Amino acid sequence: MSFNSSRRAFFSATAASLAWLFVGDRASAAPANLAGTPCKVKGRERTVDGVTFVCRNAKGKLIWRRKPGEATTKVVTVRVLESSALKLGGTKVVDAPAPNGGTVGVVLTRTSAGITALRVNCTHQGFPVGRVGAVLECELHGSQFNPETGAAINGPAVRPLTRYDASETNGGIYVTVTSA
Ligand code: FES
Repeated sequence: MSFNSSRRAFFSATAASLAWLFVGDRASAAPANLAGTPCKVKGRERTVDGVTFVCRNAKGKLIWRRKPGEATTKVVTVRVLESSALKLGGTKVVDAPAPNGGTVGVVLTRTSAGITALRVNCTHQGFPVGRVGAVLECELHGSQFNPETGAAINGPAVRPLTRYDASETNGGIYVTVTSA
């Protein structure tokens, strides 16, 4: 073997070793979010930073997917109104901070059973509802809801208004909004 060929062999062996070290190091570092990256054994689970992923088949390829039910639920509880501002039988619309940013409109109604907090958006097409007589009514297509429970009384909406937890303490009304 000539000097040149042995020197080439030495450099290519060294380059191969360095390449192996580089790939090996990258392969051992788990990405923070596995979702969408390839996996090898269907059904295998792996937890990264407290989030569990499952190896699933997607269009013929095995990839990591976030395990169902692992989504984080964010909760915000906030004082939205002074107690004195909501009389028995009355309704007020307030804004509450949404857990994922922005605000959400909430209809508060005080009855003898307590305070009910409902999302202001009609379950038909999302138009805001308002108090009309004894009901919450959506002006857009005429749906009506029970202000004490959120149940749909007249359509076209059929689903009840989304209900939030409401509480009253220290002279204030608090609403808890969740992201899920
Ligand atoms: S959006 Fe409320 S009835 Fe259609």
